[in-house]
Amino acid sequence: MRELRIAAVADIHLGEDVRGHYRKKLEGIEQRADVLLVGGDLTRHGTVQEGRVVAEELRDLPIPVVAVLGNHDYHSDANKEIIEVLRDTGITVLDDESTVVPLDGVRLGVAGGKGFGGGFAGKCASEFGEPETKAFVRHTREIAERWRLALKGLEADHKVVLSHYSPVKDTLTGEPPEIYPFLGSYLLAEAADAEGADLFVHGHAHAGTEKGVTPGGIRVRNVALPVIEHAYVVYCLNGDGDC
Ligand SMILES: [Fe+2]
Ligand SMILES: [Fe+2]
Repeated sequence: MRELRIAAVADIHLGEDVRGHYRKKLEGIEQRADVLLVGGDLTRHGTVQEGRVVAEELRDLPIPVVAVLGNHDYHSDANKEIIEVLRDTGITVLDDESTVVPLDGVRLGVAGGKGFGGGFAGKCASEFGEPETKAFVRHTREIAERWRLALKGLEADHKVVLSHYSPVKDTLTGEPPEIYPFLGSYLLAEAADAEGADLFVHGHAHAGTEKGVTPGGIRVRNVALPVIEHAYVVYCLNGDGDC
């Protein structure tokens, strides 16, 4: 089976003052990658106007684009409208669901969504006590279950999880440990490990580290723009190494 080249980035945080800048950096992407995954925090304050800038920057690329939202994209309660604007321009937006992208006879399955926090095994919040605490943890647990089911139902040659929040601590190294519970949850890793995936891509941790691995052995990559320091990075899905 031919090698798939996955371009990935997160936390592009676009606004009207940088219109056109990001698009320029995507020129020639089709020579380097087969698909572009964008892991949330597309905007700064989650306004529809910012969502339109994102749609323009990613519109009609020569390769398919799959995206999820991040916490910033929820800030103005316009997340649904932003998803609509992006979908109207041909971008696939995953909201706790999956898609299959046919790439020259190879089926790439992508599952995921924004994700949420809660922390990591041994140092995590639990569904106990006040209703607010229970609701916080339940939200992540329900998301993880939807992702597990989405992965399970995927009929594809390769599977990738696309998230905003992190599934592991490895890729948070560099962030203050006090905020880890707001940067991700081990439940997301459990969902991926239960059904299997070739790669888990996330963002959100701007001061984190690029590379990690889930307890089940899935490669995790934090592709937040300040971490990768490029418009995108490319990972190969055949073999163990990165492209
Ligand atoms: Fe961000
Ligand atoms: Fe974020």
